[in-house]
Amino acid sequence: MKATVDYMKAATIAELGSPIVDDSAWLRLRVKELEEQHLTFRNSLICGFNQLLDLKDISTGVHSTRLAEWAIRVARKLNIPEEHLYQVEVAALLHDIGKIGVPDAILKKQGPLTPDERALINRHPEYSWSILRLFPGLEDASLYALHHHENLDGTGYPAGLKETEIPLVSRIVSVIDAYDAMVSNRCYRKGLPHTEAVRRLCESSGTQFDLQVVQAFIPIAEQEADAVFAAAGTSAEAAL
Ligand SMILES: [Fe+2]
Repeated sequence: MKATVDYMKAATIAELGSPIVDDSAWLRLRVKELEEQHLTFRNSLICGFNQLLDLKDISTGVHSTRLAEWAIRVARKLNIPEEHLYQVEVAALLHDIGKIGVPDAILKKQGPLTPDERALINRHPEYSWSILRLFPGLEDASLYALHHHENLDGTGYPAGLKETEIPLVSRIVSVIDAYDAMVSNRCYRKGLPHTEAVRRLCESSGTQFDLQVVQAFIPIAEQEADAVFAAAGTSAEAAL
């Protein structure tokens, strides 16, 4: 409706011999305005989904926010283009959004899982993908979330991808996700010391993790040890 009114106004002014009205400039402004509205709306949805993760499991939401910051730093070190960092951030932030589809009784179960329970938890990357792919413009992020539990040797899930078949961003999320999980306290166990977590990352490089990603991430983890361990519920002094 707005466009019709403005075109009529422009035609009238032109007929009266007024200065030329630049319709293309107006359209460009309108397109820019709509793009900004779209981005704002999408960002609000992303924040809303992150809040949902908080409601589902407080440690998951906080953990995802921390991972998003780390993922961007690792991505920059690995020369992922700046214009792609938004996809990296969203993938790191919402890679576990599919856990919403896993019952709390299984997700928060203390003690060993049955094979069926494990199989259900292992479907969460597919659930994440099925949610994120519905967001226009987040197709890449949805694929990164889908593959964040793949292992370099092909033993991961859901697709059993190997090495560079696994998207680089998924390999980044895999490493920082594992580190964060290892150093964080859980109700059923205490977080590992930073040095032990790093040792395990290095030990599993080439089989589970990408060595290049691990090497890019370790200095970042060391720089932020105080903040990480404070957020994880222990102290850097005790852990290091
Ligand atoms: Fe996950």
